[in-house]
Amino acid sequence: MNPKKDLVGIEKLTAPEICQYLDLADNFLEVLARPIPIVPALRGKTILTLFFEASTRTQISFSIAAKRLSADIVNFSQTASSVKKGETLLDTARNIEAMKVDGVVIRHSAPGSALFLGQRLEAFVVNAGDGAHEHPTQALLDFMTMRQHFKSFDKLRVLIIGDITHSRVARSNIFGLRTLGARVAICAPPTLIPLEIDRLGVEVFYDLDGIIGEYDVVMALRIQLERQQAGLFPSVREYRACYGLTAERLRRMKPRSIIMHPGPTNRGVEIDPEVADSTRSVILEQVKNGVALRMAVLFIHAGGKIE
Ligand code: CP
Repeated sequence: MNPKKDLVGIEKLTAPEICQYLDLADNFLEVLARPIPIVPALRGKTILTLFFEASTRTQISFSIAAKRLSADIVNFSQTASSVKKGETLLDTARNIEAMKVDGVVIRHSAPGSALFLGQRLEAFVVNAGDGAHEHPTQALLDFMTMRQHFKSFDKLRVLIIGDITHSRVARSNIFGLRTLGARVAICAPPTLIPLEIDRLGVEVFYDLDGIIGEYDVVMALRIQLERQQAGLFPSVREYRACYGLTAERLRRMKPRSIIMHPGPTNRGVEIDPEVADSTRSVILEQVKNGVALRMAVLFIHAGGKIE
């Protein structure tokens, strides 16, 4: 299967395309378990991470993934660059490409920024989060983690709780899970549910306690505290009382169900510490899988070779 040049979102991927990333990522997990976890697959390739927003997991795991594939990695920091002097995104990228990079991993607050760059650069582009639009590699590592626990997506019941309107993770997960055959529901205050929700093909709930026992996967999203200042929910305390993953709600979940969170977590808001650290939480499995999954993405889009 020939991949598209860029990975800008999950929405237009087919199930076989998604599974190609997941299958290769499973193979790279085996590489990562070796005493010397490095393969020469991308030797001579240069990857740039171009992050205009803060990141811990995504930027670090792309950097580790590139190193494990023997690529050269250059990390761009907005605060230390000429963007502060007014240079445009396109000029920044063109100047960097003139230095001969093979791939660009971009995070930017503007929806469509990865598509914009991909249409203008010869280098392949991977979207590491574009505003509230998509975060495809987060969704792919989430699918990889779900598949490790449940083997199949057919009729898998996934519940996403929280700020759906502003969440690129929710959108990418919804697109991909529906393509893979899962049943997706969301639960949130009405003020955090997007107007176009009907178009996304999910069930919508407002009362978490009435439904939490029905799902195989329960994914909490980070609540951005500035949303409270914008009046989208009354208080952090009330949000936790209605939608937080507490020990009491954990007890009412299905016996083999798992808890996911893309990070960073607000402990005591959308998820309590005893839930985040419980045996049902797979949050650190998600992070671990992120390296293997991003190795698969870089390998596929950089045209990697197994020697
Ligand atoms: N999940 C995620 O995108 O985390 P970071 O913001 O730390 O990259």
